[in-house]
Amino acid sequence: MATEAVDTQLSSLPERVRHRFPIFEQRVYVNSCSQGALSDAVRTSYEQYLADWDEYGAPWEYWVERQEAGRASFAGLVNAAREEVAVTTSLSSGVASLASGLRFARRSKVVLTDWEFPTIGQIWHAQEARGARVVHVQAAADGTIPIEHFERAIDDDTLIVSITHVCYRNGAMVDVPEVVRIAHERGAYVLLDAYQSVGSLPVDVKALDVDFLGAGVLKYLLGSAGLGFFYARGELVEKVFPTATGWFADEDIFAMDHTDYSPARTAVRFQSGTPPVPALYAGIAGMELMKEIGIRETREHVLELQAQLLEGLDALGATVVTPRDPDRRGALVCVRSSDATALVAALDRDGIVTSERDSSLRISPHCYNGPEDVDAVLVALRTHRELLA
Ligand SMILES: Cc1ncc(COP(=O)(O)O)c(C=O)c1O
Repeated sequence: MATEAVDTQLSSLPERVRHRFPIFEQRVYVNSCSQGALSDAVRTSYEQYLADWDEYGAPWEYWVERQEAGRASFAGLVNAAREEVAVTTSLSSGVASLASGLRFARRSKVVLTDWEFPTIGQIWHAQEARGARVVHVQAAADGTIPIEHFERAIDDDTLIVSITHVCYRNGAMVDVPEVVRIAHERGAYVLLDAYQSVGSLPVDVKALDVDFLGAGVLKYLLGSAGLGFFYARGELVEKVFPTATGWFADEDIFAMDHTDYSPARTAVRFQSGTPPVPALYAGIAGMELMKEIGIRETREHVLELQAQLLEGLDALGATVVTPRDPDRRGALVCVRSSDATALVAALDRDGIVTSERDSSLRISPHCYNGPEDVDAVLVALRTHRELLA
């Protein structure tokens, strides 16, 4: 299938980009918080991977070049230098590599929130065996995490504060600059899990002033499974010596030296083994397509769709658990359900793809969705009203 340029003559964002995503010929897809829709560009990139394999046999040099292209593409996306970015196979592997390289002797506390994806909690709790003390900042009764809760939890014994930009369970966005300010005042690092934000809204590591950031390309970056990225602030890279490591983290990968550990002087030290080559082809295609479509414009467009959705949900008497303040939410809107699994299945039978977490239906519009998709969701929810809580 040939890829085409995004047509900038048409007015609305979905009018310009929707034809690149064949799923819309059959289904209403509002599940980008789980996985982005497949584009012609990503399909072509996989075909290219197979064609290159056929043509060159073992094109290792080109594969290494693809890894560098992926690194550069992600760095550009989050305003990092290339040397500050590691190519990983998941968000988890980058975070695990960081955690394995921290020492908990002088400062032992790890502060995280109750909004973390399981992998984050699990990786930090695993460090308890190495002397870490893990403290959870809890949400208030209204579902938000007030900044005072961070004020209370972060202290002079805190080594790192691990927060998620947008919560996968309720769509809420943490006030990152405020948390960073408190953490840095007290000498602690900040790790940001940006998986639910990157690609859906502008994420700038320098503007946010975070020390480390993990992300992947499966969702709003339109890539596929198997590829993640890990950012480490340049001046911090050489302070961390990951013990979860591998040959692609070495300062000279092709020296093939098995007699010592000399990690790269760049964020490459957070890598591990053979790069996820097929996923790199797809991830680069997805990231470049998203850059072409426009992430800032996508964010504005999605906020408009959310306003339409929230108005309709209110009219249905639904319980929305996502914050009303647009600055405090990401791209997904979560709605309480008496049986979220049954609701997702019922919508699926109506040709609408959604997902559920924590007793809530998740509706996550992206650049390709238009007002007609929101209408379709609302009409279907009216039919299945008995499954709303
Ligand atoms: C916020 C968040 N963090 C992390 C992950 C998982 O990342 P990975 O499987 O790449 O480690 C997800 C996936 O859904 C997520 O939503």
